Amino acid sequence: MKEKVEALKAEITDYVAAKNDELEAFRLKFISRKSVITDLFADMKNIAPEDRKEMGQLLNELKNTARDKFNKLIASVENTKKESTDAPIDLTLPPIPDTLGSLHPLSITKKRILEIFERIGFNVSYGPEIEDDWHNFTALNFPENHPAREMQDTFFIEKDPDIALRTHTSSVQVRVMEKQKPPIRTLSPGRVFRNEAISVRAHCIFHQVEGLYVDKNVSFADLKQTMLYFAREFFGKNTKIRLRPSYFPFTEPSAELDISCFICGQKGCKICKHTGWVEIGGCGMVDPNVLKNCDIDPEEYTGFAFGMGIERITMLKYQINDIRLFTENDIRFLRQFKSVN
Ligand code: DAH
Repeated sequence: MKEKVEALKAEITDYVAAKNDELEAFRLKFISRKSVITDLFADMKNIAPEDRKEMGQLLNELKNTARDKFNKLIASVENTKKESTDAPIDLTLPPIPDTLGSLHPLSITKKRILEIFERIGFNVSYGPEIEDDWHNFTALNFPENHPAREMQDTFFIEKDPDIALRTHTSSVQVRVMEKQKPPIRTLSPGRVFRNEAISVRAHCIFHQVEGLYVDKNVSFADLKQTMLYFAREFFGKNTKIRLRPSYFPFTEPSAELDISCFICGQKGCKICKHTGWVEIGGCGMVDPNVLKNCDIDPEEYTGFAFGMGIERITMLKYQINDIRLFTENDIRFLRQFKSVN
């Protein structure tokens, strides 16, 4: 029995384990309740009583050796695992593809519009999203209690005096003209809010860009040429424009701005509803009353203004058929704009 103990001791001392299954094999053989050491303890009853004390000590030593070794083996297996995850980086591997983000399509459109107008001398101005009645309506020549105010379903924050979420970026026109005297050439992009049911085509929060040009001798021809320049730069050089008479309280005359349908080449399609034209915004000559409200003399200065929906022209340009996609944060949608930045 003594030799057996010696042999086991040597086996325990020499044991190496690099993997979990080798560790488990050690545990089963030397530590578990069915281990060889347990068997030896069971054999004690067959040993002569005078030898029992010594054998008992030897077996206890063996048991402790096995325990100590087991703890060491656990530590060494853990270390081997760590080393394998800390392995040196393989510098010859290709870089991880597809990690670049992309600009949001509305940011891309806004950026493009600003760039196009920057080239003809427009700067950028911003106004608050929470606006008073004067800047959103009254200064823009919306008469008190006039039905035109109902054209835009307003989210009011306070009544008397009226404070509301701006319904259009035209409010920034007023803020700019109050502060700055002509010549003015400015573009005002931003968020606007209207109490409208959300659908495929409409949202209660969307974006517009407002343009304003005030100087001596600004004419309707200037407006027309500027709109044509923009349309060609943004939608392609063969784009045509059409100005349809319309009504806005802050412009006189006013027009709706259409572009030739670039999707069907004016042959007629679903997007242009078979008319060959699609509307992209409103425009007109700044009403003399608006200039007066901002302390600009309409006898000396004239101007034009325009407003476009950023969602609308983004949907047209990239043929996006649901306005809600812009706010859903679906990575499969957003990813498609990676190359357009
Ligand atoms: N503010 C108008 C709207 O939200 C758009 C607009 C039309 C702006 C004509 C203008 C303009 O500056 O001249 O529907």
